[in-house]
Amino acid sequence: MKISVIGTGYVGLIQSVGLSEFGYNVVGIDIDESKIKQLNRGECPLYEEGVEELLNKHVGKNLRFTTSYDEIKDSDVIFLCVGTPQDEEGNADLRFIYSATESIRKKLDGNYKVIVIKSTVPIGTNRKIKEMLKDCNVDVVSNPEFLREGLALNDFLNPDRIVLGFENLNNPRPIEIMKEAYSYFSDKNVPFIITDWESSELIKYAANSFLATKISFINELSKLADVVGGDIKTISRAMGFDERIGNKFLNAGIGYGGSCFPKDVKALIKQFENNNIEPKLIRATDEVNEEQIYWFLNKIKKYYNNLNGKTFAILGLAFKPNTDDLRESRGIKLIELLLEEGAIVKCFDYVEKARENTINRYKFDKSKAFYGYNLYLFEDIYKTVENVDGIIITTEYSNLNEEDWNKIGNLVRNKVVFDGRNILDKNKIKNLGFKYFGVGRN
Ligand code: UGA
Repeated sequence: MKISVIGTGYVGLIQSVGLSEFGYNVVGIDIDESKIKQLNRGECPLYEEGVEELLNKHVGKNLRFTTSYDEIKDSDVIFLCVGTPQDEEGNADLRFIYSATESIRKKLDGNYKVIVIKSTVPIGTNRKIKEMLKDCNVDVVSNPEFLREGLALNDFLNPDRIVLGFENLNNPRPIEIMKEAYSYFSDKNVPFIITDWESSELIKYAANSFLATKISFINELSKLADVVGGDIKTISRAMGFDERIGNKFLNAGIGYGGSCFPKDVKALIKQFENNNIEPKLIRATDEVNEEQIYWFLNKIKKYYNNLNGKTFAILGLAFKPNTDDLRESRGIKLIELLLEEGAIVKCFDYVEKARENTINRYKFDKSKAFYGYNLYLFEDIYKTVENVDGIIITTEYSNLNEEDWNKIGNLVRNKVVFDGRNILDKNKIKNLGFKYFGVGRN
């Protein structure tokens, strides 16, 4: 089977290397020429465990990359994996989806092909794409992705389910082709959900918004625990033992970030609004998430009275551990709020590329690691905490517990920790003489 994958971002690149690992002939297509050259050299443009190894294993053999849409002519299946960012009003911006569809349309030569939409798209988009291709000999299939950053290759190879949405469930041709393309998964007994376009599109938004709602639920509860007492970590642990609730995505913190949850929750709200239905619960999920960081900031402000001139160590720049991705990162948001208050911020992340991305974002002078006003970046956690008035944890790095907190206690000016991810062993920290403030956990 010959396959082409349009888009070499997160989803497209994992799809390309994953399918080439299954033995297919794969061509990755992207309009970004420098990225294509980089990929053909075997260099991975993103920070994701295992991807560069697979890229090097297959590139130049059954995997190659090009900027030319001509290549789709030889493909049996074409996966569309371009980005669907958020537009100014919160809708999913479908510009790239439609321009890629148009580029495909121009190259179709009458031979039958299956076009698979992997990008996260609002309900009705697969139907629109089919409409754009109505004169072409194609079937359009919806196949949302469920890859977590940092674990993307693992999630690709070990999915919880494969969701496939079709125009007509009585038409066996595209169903058989998709089953063949994904036969690796049926051999591993992964459940296949074969459904219509709309259900498939909605499944993706539903899954992400539900997980986001779990997080916002526990974050809302953490505010009450902050005021009335109680430890939210113990509360969510106890809740999680009930199998109907489950313990995953019940960790209180300073809110969810990343390129998916914030965008998908907002896009789902828009889809309700566009259909004149009030999305009460999902809107609340979004609002709780937006407010959570201010609740945390107020806690810091209350402790110091005035943040002007105070120095803080921010531990965590990426939106979650083991990624270099700063998109919608709560750590970055908090840095900016602290700078606005006149604080001096010394920041750190364990992931080198996350630090590099921070340098690029703020145009640091590398030699001084200094940004315009009051922001400094460090490669070493102990240098970061030197002479600070407080330590603030913004990304859930569990290895923070393995650091030498005795040494940290001797380096700081003031032994205070604001644990925005409830990641530290609070009794150990308190026993070392630190004041500890968690989220719903003091
Ligand atoms: C998310 C979903 O988990 C994937 O299933 C989905 O495929 C992907 O979006 C997507 O739509 O492409 P991802 O954005 O990589 O994956 O990140 P998550 O691991 O889900 O974490 C998102 C945010 O929630 C992070 O900022 C994390 O710190 C926060 N979080 C997570 C919490 O605050 N509490 C928790 O209990 C769990």
